Amino acid sequence: MSIIEVRELSKQFKEVLAVDNVTFDVKKGEIFGLLGPNGAGKSTTIRMLTTLSRPTSGTAIVADHDILKEPSKVREKIGLVSEKTILYDRLTAFENLMFFAKLNGMDKKNAKKRCMELLEMVDMLKWKDTMVGKFSTGMRQRINVIRALLHDPKIIFLDEPTLGLDPQTTRTIRELIKQINEEGRTVILTTHIMTEADILSDRIAIIDHGKIVALDTPKGLKRMLKQSDDEILDIEIPNMTSNLVTELEAFDCVQKVLSRSSEEIRIIMNCDNPVAFITDFLSKHSLNIRAIKTVEPTLEDVFIKLTGHEMRDQAVKKARFARRMMHQ
Ligand SMILES: Nc1ncnc2c1ncn2[C@@H]1O[C@H](COP(=O)(O)OP(=O)(O)OP(=O)(O)O)[C@@H](O)[C@H]1O
Ligand SMILES: [Mg+2]
Repeated sequence: MSIIEVRELSKQFKEVLAVDNVTFDVKKGEIFGLLGPNGAGKSTTIRMLTTLSRPTSGTAIVADHDILKEPSKVREKIGLVSEKTILYDRLTAFENLMFFAKLNGMDKKNAKKRCMELLEMVDMLKWKDTMVGKFSTGMRQRINVIRALLHDPKIIFLDEPTLGLDPQTTRTIRELIKQINEEGRTVILTTHIMTEADILSDRIAIIDHGKIVALDTPKGLKRMLKQSDDEILDIEIPNMTSNLVTELEAFDCVQKVLSRSSEEIRIIMNCDNPVAFITDFLSKHSLNIRAIKTVEPTLEDVFIKLTGHEMRDQAVKKARFARRMMHQ
């Protein structure tokens, strides 16, 4: 059963078509990942579905209500953890939560009970009377996530919830997302991190330049690559030359060559006999092979296959930038 039905949704900002006619459904109770690089249109999609931004065309039904016709009804049913943390540094964790509970129209007694429950859920009860300004990034993010759960929403939207977090905190937040889902809530999650989408999502929509280019379970997406006769090889070449990537990509049966280090490439190809093809090519160019192995496709490979470009470079830059901003 679908809890969200998105129909031909578009958003145009002057000359940028941020979201380009997307249609998809989110099933009740699933974790749905929106995976895409910088500027793909993930946040814009989330902003429209959470009624913060008006679509240029198209619409969506969220928990039985049309985002255009009944935006306040939609807001009652959803919680949003947006890209930016909105917490007041000079208020304690408890005061912050109570403030947002009041904004949600909750009465004081209920709000207090709910705040305590949620603080306990994320193991933050002992910090309830500490000013948020003193918290680590991970502690802030835990408060930020439970803030979105105050009114017990059926659906929770998380826009890049682990951006800029260290590995340990990232794990904690991912566990929390799973827990929120296990409580019966539908989760819509945006990320540019392949492994995050892979680990957490029941289904993933890959979005690029405002368009959904694929939608399936993580397994299904990877299977798509396997069925297509494509082979992925990792090859270690100690005396690699700088123009090797370009030379290999010139072959019709070679789809993409990625330089993984100064001595290793990954090649996605559908040549007849991939290993023979590559060993032959390299020996003709007097290049040595230290190791060659076939690898199982990852979501990264699926993304490259579908879009013709890599996602990682931008994503790494973005995570570094976010970390810098958070520590300023
Ligand atoms: N308010 C705005 N005005 C003009 N252009 C915008 C606005 N918001 C987003 N855009 C543009 O729309 C496109 C999609 O942006 P969006 O923020 O939705 O991408 P994203 O997938 O969330 O990317 P990121 O990984 O950077 O968060 C980008 O080209 C962006 O520059
Ligand atoms: Mg975004």
